[in-house]
Amino acid sequence: MPYAHITGWGMSVPEPVLTNDDLAKMVDTNDEWIRDRTGIRERHIAREDQFTSTLAVEAAIKALQVANLAPTELDLIIVASSSPEYIFPATACLVQDQIGATKAGAFDLLAACSGFIYGVNMAAQSIRSGSIKNALVIGSETLSRFVDWKDRGTCILFGDGAGAFVVQASDKPGGVLSAVMHSDGSGADSLTLLGGGARHPATETTLAEGKHYVRMDGKAVFRFATRVMGSATKEALELANMKLEEVDWIIPHQANYRIIETAAKYLKLPLDKFVINVDRYGNTSTASIPIAAVEAIEKGQLKSGNKVVFVGFGAGLTWGALVAEWTGPIPTKKHVHPEQYRLFARLRSLIRRALRFLEGLFSRREL
Ligand SMILES: CC(C)(COP(=O)(O)OP(=O)(O)OC[C@H]1O[C@@H](n2cnc3c(N)ncnc32)[C@H](O)[C@@H]1OP(=O)(O)O)[C@@H](O)C(=O)NCCC(=O)NCCS
Repeated sequence: MPYAHITGWGMSVPEPVLTNDDLAKMVDTNDEWIRDRTGIRERHIAREDQFTSTLAVEAAIKALQVANLAPTELDLIIVASSSPEYIFPATACLVQDQIGATKAGAFDLLAACSGFIYGVNMAAQSIRSGSIKNALVIGSETLSRFVDWKDRGTCILFGDGAGAFVVQASDKPGGVLSAVMHSDGSGADSLTLLGGGARHPATETTLAEGKHYVRMDGKAVFRFATRVMGSATKEALELANMKLEEVDWIIPHQANYRIIETAAKYLKLPLDKFVINVDRYGNTSTASIPIAAVEAIEKGQLKSGNKVVFVGFGAGLTWGALVAEWTGPIPTKKHVHPEQYRLFARLRSLIRRALRFLEGLFSRREL
């Protein structure tokens, strides 16, 4: 049975930064309150011309560069997102087209902020089963588009960004060692975005009622998150036959510094075992774990051979944890340039659109 290794990683955040002081000019809040209650200092907000797929593609290309893998070698693309570009088509298909992943299947995964853990686990299981060899898992968000900038209870929390992992088959032991995924729909009301789906299609009323915004019972989510972070970590470690002491790094979903602090206390681990960057990005939902992982690698914290736990929670309610032995790119002699496939991908897309148009013209004549 092949092992599923994380062989590439990349992130992308939009340049515009919104600080707590900027927010204080928009709603009745202040830097001290936000820092005290959440640990967040600033977050990145997508420009008008940046979309969930834009950030996803940038992160994906970087991850493929690290893995030294051509997009044409990908078998599967999973985009986990709480702010997909559309209900359909899947953002994953937009990414597939833009990076030139000619033979990949592609789908979106909606498990809110736990989505990246779910996605990596799904990719790893497909690889372990032998059905695919190379997968790209992306967490990408432009949640700023769904935030009510008049609601100080939510607008202070979220930020935009994307992170991606390449997951590949290898006979070498290691890679993804275990994972747990959980859900509890009885808590569905705690964190919602109700408008625009089949139950509340967009109307003037849904707009007036603010149904197209994120709504949250912050205290309920806080209590839930602090309960599940530690337990999911323990459960995944048990499945991997590992002890907490063997873990080099815990990379938690970056929602709130206090939630991470509480998890550390529960696990009786020092906070310096946790990778934390919520101060600079806020909660980027599905993107927060891969962004934190990429930064940990770039800082020289997360290294090949390290044992790492990813743990997250989110709307649904969902939560999960995944244990991995960090490896890195699979050594190979060839050197590929995944970014160069973008031009080819654009041309291919244009030609296919033109052919589809012509096909439409001719088939109309035949009818
Ligand atoms: C949202 C959150 C930071 C609020 O913190 P809290 O300690 O629960 O704060 P409360 O909502 O009880 O509000 C406390 C007081 O601060 C006020 N307040 C709320 N937001 C404020 C803000 N941005 N600035 C200033 N004051 C604020 C409240 O009105 C309340 O005032 P009152 O005591 O006069 O009624 C916290 O509940 C949280 O982080 N929850 C988890 C959210 C999360 O992680 N969501 C994503 C999941 S993936």
